[in-house]
Amino acid sequence: MPKLILNLLAFALLMHAQDPAHATTETHTQASEEVLAGKSEFGKTCGFCHGATGRGASGPDLIHSTLVSHDVDGNLIGDVVHNGRPDKGMPAFPNETAAQIRAIAAFLHNEAHLAATTYARGPGDYPLSKLLVGNAEQGKRYFAQNCASCHSSTGDLAHVATKYKPIDLQTRIAFPSGLKPTVTVRDASGETFSGTEIYSDEFVVTLRDKDNRLHTFDRKIAHVEIKDPLARHVELLRKYTDSDLHNLFAYLVTLK
Ligand code: HEC
Ligand code: HEC
Repeated sequence: MPKLILNLLAFALLMHAQDPAHATTETHTQASEEVLAGKSEFGKTCGFCHGATGRGASGPDLIHSTLVSHDVDGNLIGDVVHNGRPDKGMPAFPNETAAQIRAIAAFLHNEAHLAATTYARGPGDYPLSKLLVGNAEQGKRYFAQNCASCHSSTGDLAHVATKYKPIDLQTRIAFPSGLKPTVTVRDASGETFSGTEIYSDEFVVTLRDKDNRLHTFDRKIAHVEIKDPLARHVELLRKYTDSDLHNLFAYLVTLK
């Protein structure tokens, strides 16, 4: 079972590396700046689950999604992105700006257009048996260097492979959930508030204090500090190479 999932993961990653439609986008001279901005934002924020070109990985294919095909300038995609579908594995991204959503939508519509008009090779061209599977030893070394300051294979992650289905474990490595950022605010009068982050964007921040009360502040006049316990995970996500992820996953599935 883990081997199959590893193959699927390897396969998803290989597909975006070799996807000919992807290459076409790269050289598509008429690609507007918005499409390129959307490609970059999508790659950073959504690609891990939906694939770099939106053709699906652990998350669904968005290029052939009815919702995406009915979307106009991000009107439907924006709702899903801002609210997520937390019970179904789609996290909420309340901080994506309207411009970022429009750009992501432009990128996805462009990919859908390319998919409809260019020849794309099917999965049949990539026998799973030929795909590289991660190396658990190397994953263990990567873990020691990048993860062991916070985690332990005999402590908090000792049985992580039995806690999640492999496909969910893969998502957890990149997007652990549960812990909210903490926010500390000094308002204009000098009073200090702290609590968990409920919402924040470039203009306002809302926190819930220990008495369960919500407070919203204008970021132009209040001094705001946000500490995200998962910040390191967000940074790591931008650093992983495909083989780092294969290897890490291969290692973590041995923690039973
Ligand atoms: C942690 C993985 C993950 C990330 C990151 C993620 N998604 Fe999703 N997304 C999912 C899953 C899983 C679903 C399917 C939810 C369901 O079954 O309803 C989904 C569903 C969607 C849908 C609805 C598709 C449909 O046909 O109903 C859209 C649109 C979408 N995601 C866009 C995005 C965008 C844009 C981003 C980046 C800003 C993003 N997603 C980031 C996992 C993810
Ligand atoms: C700076 C600290 C830090 C580093 C470094 C770090 N993590 Fe995490 N990780 C966390 C925190 C905090 C959580 C959330 C724990 C919780 O929700 O109880 C977490 C959660 C996880 C989870 C989910 C665990 C669960 O039981 O749901 C996995 C898997 C994970 N991290 C893997 C990794 C891997 C692999 C690396 C290295 C590539 C790494 N982490 C690096 C802080 C860190």
